[in-house]
Amino acid sequence: MTNADFEKIVETSDEWIVSRTGIRERRIADESIGTSDMSVEAAKRAMEMAECDPEEIELLITGTVTPDYKLPSNACIVQEKIGLPNAVAFDVVAACTGFISGLSIAESYIASGKYKKVLVIGAEKLSSFTNYKDRNTCVLFGDAAGAAVLEASDNGRGVLSTFLKSDGSYRKLLWTEYGGSKNPYTPDFAFDGSDKIFMNGAEIFKVAVREMGKAAEKVIADAGLTSDDIALFVPHQANIRIIDAITKRLGLDSDKVYVNIERYGNTSAASIPLALDEANRAGRLKPGDNVVMVAFGGGLIWGAAVVKW
Ligand code: ACO
Repeated sequence: MTNADFEKIVETSDEWIVSRTGIRERRIADESIGTSDMSVEAAKRAMEMAECDPEEIELLITGTVTPDYKLPSNACIVQEKIGLPNAVAFDVVAACTGFISGLSIAESYIASGKYKKVLVIGAEKLSSFTNYKDRNTCVLFGDAAGAAVLEASDNGRGVLSTFLKSDGSYRKLLWTEYGGSKNPYTPDFAFDGSDKIFMNGAEIFKVAVREMGKAAEKVIADAGLTSDDIALFVPHQANIRIIDAITKRLGLDSDKVYVNIERYGNTSAASIPLALDEANRAGRLKPGDNVVMVAFGGGLIWGAAVVKW
């Protein structure tokens, strides 16, 4: 869906969207597609790349706020669709930080010796929860899925550090107020858009720039590195101005930053694995490279990780 498509349905312009967000296009999944379907595609390709058999996966984590159903989890549906007979599967509800949260949980389980191979998926069908009459949000979001297989290593490569933090006092800056146990739909519910995502973008923007910058600095220091040691920075793709501000704060050259927001928009938990996979397949990563990832989303919850590729 292009910016020109949005000019036809809300009061907006390509110029406003590009200059304020960096987004030109986003992918919208077909009505018949659920988050689990996109998750399965991403998971299969990750397992193929990792040359991993389904039997080997012991844990499957999906980061998503847009599961097919309220119950059961997206992860359990994906487990059945791929066929992971030896895994336990569950979702992590951490909005745009879903993949980093999954990565951090996976790393902890592997480091403890509990599991050897973990599949982490970030997947969202945000279009199902977007109000296409609200120009403040509808131009931002897209649908996508990405996945990674993690396993124990003894060659110094892998996850070097992670950091996660949340502050629930900001929860109403980005939320869906109705349809849950607190405000369930009633027979006379209006379905006027209040059943969709509400966001106070300007307030989130300020917290995001501050906390994503701090989180990235922390994981780099915790890994015993400095900005000079970073080969590639893969930030959550929510807004090009947020990415530019953090890049500047970290003192990174722009050629060390992977940006694909112009083609996908904000795909929440899918954003980082999508960018990481594109960067990898484009030959931007070589063994031993230090990669920094940082994310921020509804909760509010944010986090970062350093991975030695
Ligand atoms: N087209 C034209 N005008 C618009 C549009 C649009 N699509 N959207 C908003 N505007 C208007 C607003 O109505 C406002 O008009 P007003 O001054 O007459 O009221 C004006 O533009 C400025 O609005 P701001 O909110 O101040 O614009 P801002 O520069 O902050 O950009 C944006 C808005 C892009 C949403 C930005 O704030 C942002 O990216 N915020 C962070 C979003 C984010 O990171 N969310 C967390 C992750 S999402 C997740 O977890 C699922």
